[in-house]
Amino acid sequence: MSRTVYVNGAYRPEEEATVSVFDRGFLFADGVYEVTSVLAGRLIDFHAHMARLRRSLAALSMEAPADEEEILAIHRELVTRNGVEEGMVYLQVTRGAADRDFAYPAAGTKPSLVLFTQKAALRERPMAATGMKVVSLPDLRWARRDIKTVQLLYPSMAKMEAKARGADDAWMVEDGFVTEGSSNNAYIVTQDATLVTRPLSSAILPGITRVSVLRLAAEDGLTVEERPFTIEEAKAAREAFITSASTFVMPVVSIDGAAIGDGAPGPHAKRLREIYIAEAEAAAI
Ligand code: PDD
Repeated sequence: MSRTVYVNGAYRPEEEATVSVFDRGFLFADGVYEVTSVLAGRLIDFHAHMARLRRSLAALSMEAPADEEEILAIHRELVTRNGVEEGMVYLQVTRGAADRDFAYPAAGTKPSLVLFTQKAALRERPMAATGMKVVSLPDLRWARRDIKTVQLLYPSMAKMEAKARGADDAWMVEDGFVTEGSSNNAYIVTQDATLVTRPLSSAILPGITRVSVLRLAAEDGLTVEERPFTIEEAKAAREAFITSASTFVMPVVSIDGAAIGDGAPGPHAKRLREIYIAEAEAAAI
């Protein structure tokens, strides 16, 4: 059945939801996005996603298309109209439509706002029981990965290369250290039970799930170290996992074909997944 999509002020059947061919999102990838997950029909971490959206917009001198309350109402309306119990709401803002020109268009060009939903099983994922395999690839993205832009071609290429090598995803490496996964943040648990993840900088996206998981891990008694780590250190780790809005906490069981720990999801990743989901659902709006 056709979904209802929100496009620039209107709710439309997906077949009739269109944007201009002159939209700068289409021509220049001049746009930013957010993905907010839905559990039991409610939004996870909505306000944190909106705070990051404001940050992305400000970094690109882009106007906000609507205020937070309006954007919340659109999220809720789409979740209701599309009967989403579990899945995602995707939001994209672009600088709008203008004659093709590298310079930004004159102030007053209307930003374009599109939202749609995608149903997906997030809680019960077979991969949470088996764990995922990753391969390492060079990080060939641009140098402002802290801005959540829609220019996702290299992450797509990395995902395809990972699949071609029989893995599920790629961990990208720059100057010898892991940056992040193709669409997720990367973590290891060392042999002395320290949770290690790369500190925030322009090299990675500041994950919303990352904030909650680091706090929950510390509250649960794990030592947390924000520092870069190498693929060699990851291969020698006791556990590894990723986080994102759509995967929550997902165990990683092999890197470049080498098993992590005993090659099965580790107890810390399993526990963090459980407590993250419980807390996220309780706080959902
Ligand atoms: N991706 N790093 C990158 C490069 C990402 O694209 C994402 C999210 C994350 C995790 O951020 P968060 O916890 O806020 O989802 C880290 C989304 C889910 C996507 O592109 O579909």
